[in-house]
Amino acid sequence: MAKKKKTLFECQHCGFQSPKWLGKCSNCGAWESFVELNEQQQEVLKQTASAVSKSSQAISINEIKEDDIERFSSYDSEFDLVLGGGIVPGSLVLIGGSPGIGKSTLLLKVAGNLAQHEQNVLYVSGEESLGQIKIRANRLKSNSDKLFLLPEIKLESIVDEINSKPYSLIVIDSIQTVYSSEITSAPGSVTQVRAITFELMRIAKEKMIPIFIIGHITKEGSIAGPRVLEHMVDTVLYFDGDATKEIRLLRGFKNRFGNTSEIGIFEMTKEGLQSSKNLQFFSNKKPQSGSALTVVMEGSRPITVEVQALVSDAYGNPKRSSNGFDSNRLTMLLALLEKKLDLPFNQYDVFINIAGGIKIGETAADLAIIAAILSSFRDRALSKESLFIGEVSLTGDVRSVSSLDIRLNEAAAQGFANAIIPSKIETKLKTFIVEEVEKIVDWM
Ligand SMILES: Nc1ncnc2c1ncn2[C@@H]1O[C@H](COP(=O)(O)OP(=O)(O)OP(=O)(O)O)[C@@H](O)[C@H]1O
Ligand SMILES: [Mg+2]
Repeated sequence: MAKKKKTLFECQHCGFQSPKWLGKCSNCGAWESFVELNEQQQEVLKQTASAVSKSSQAISINEIKEDDIERFSSYDSEFDLVLGGGIVPGSLVLIGGSPGIGKSTLLLKVAGNLAQHEQNVLYVSGEESLGQIKIRANRLKSNSDKLFLLPEIKLESIVDEINSKPYSLIVIDSIQTVYSSEITSAPGSVTQVRAITFELMRIAKEKMIPIFIIGHITKEGSIAGPRVLEHMVDTVLYFDGDATKEIRLLRGFKNRFGNTSEIGIFEMTKEGLQSSKNLQFFSNKKPQSGSALTVVMEGSRPITVEVQALVSDAYGNPKRSSNGFDSNRLTMLLALLEKKLDLPFNQYDVFINIAGGIKIGETAADLAIIAAILSSFRDRALSKESLFIGEVSLTGDVRSVSSLDIRLNEAAAQGFANAIIPSKIETKLKTFIVEEVEKIVDWM
């Protein structure tokens, strides 16, 4: 009797599997995203699962020798910083970012850096012609005899090339274009991406070669393809910024070899991508109403940023909009100003923008947000000599923040004369704004 074929369906959006076809994915909510996996695809799944669960005998943790993480430099201080101190041999790193943000530029630059230091680097591109990559390499001054380009999308041919030379780094641009001829589904599909990532992971660990893969991101901002991709790799980095402006930020999202709080700051110039450790996120132009400065911590690094606010008459329901700052927190700060200072913000639209594409994820900028809002509300500029650091609590207290001394040193290094900070004794917001801010801050 013929063995009954086992059917399995998979969501092409999130990778969720079900023995039945589902109209709506019960995991991610996507509609009509289920496709049936053929036997060969089910085999890939089994192999991936069994490789992970292959267990030998258990060993007492005290008998295990620590693996010292060896790293080598990418010759780019910002890139090294985000990776946790340099490139780890055998690591699989996924770099995501929206279209045109500069992913290929960043990795071609790193590839060029290593090649210029006598290391063989393979740059595989399934998206651009050799001529296009050459133009970019000229712009970045990344040309080197040791930088090898491979315009290829077939995994088996890529693996042959990897086996042909001792490479120190491999870049795959991008994971969505690569396909394995052993699997019938289309490039970029869940099964393909999973199988290819698994194979790349195996090669990276076996040969101890670091492999960087570029991943496209979806409209919602996550890496296109299955979530398992992010689970499988060692490190996930996101490259973002405003494509229309020059500043680009590289952030760690997951890192098995270091922390994820550091950011790398780059500037896109005619000559390519420059590491910009000392980039200014505020302008030195004459003071204007609605602008206040603060110092935020990005990982271990203090950055002086400009907070911009616009308060204008509301027609209909008052609007609140925030770019780079949590909009729920903005609503809370406005409610506090209304309640504690009797300011009628329910009749005004309030917009907040953090200059330079920085996203503030901490509360130390509360005071600067409030100062910028008041400055726009009163239409009076704040002195550019001062900056504001402090958290505001729901009860209206102004509280101290972490790393205050580091922030103040940064402010001093940038040439600021005054910093408005919480006093040691907790100050009530009302006292603070009315008696401190209005008095201390020299309105222009
Ligand atoms: N001559 C130039 N001067 C300044 N910036 C440039 C120049 N040429 C290209 N750029 C910048 O490089 C960006 C393209 O970078 P890149 O191709 O590395 O992006 P990407 O993230 O790989 O895009 P994709 O998703 O299309 O692969 C452009 O959007 C532009 O900002
Ligand atoms: Mg690209």
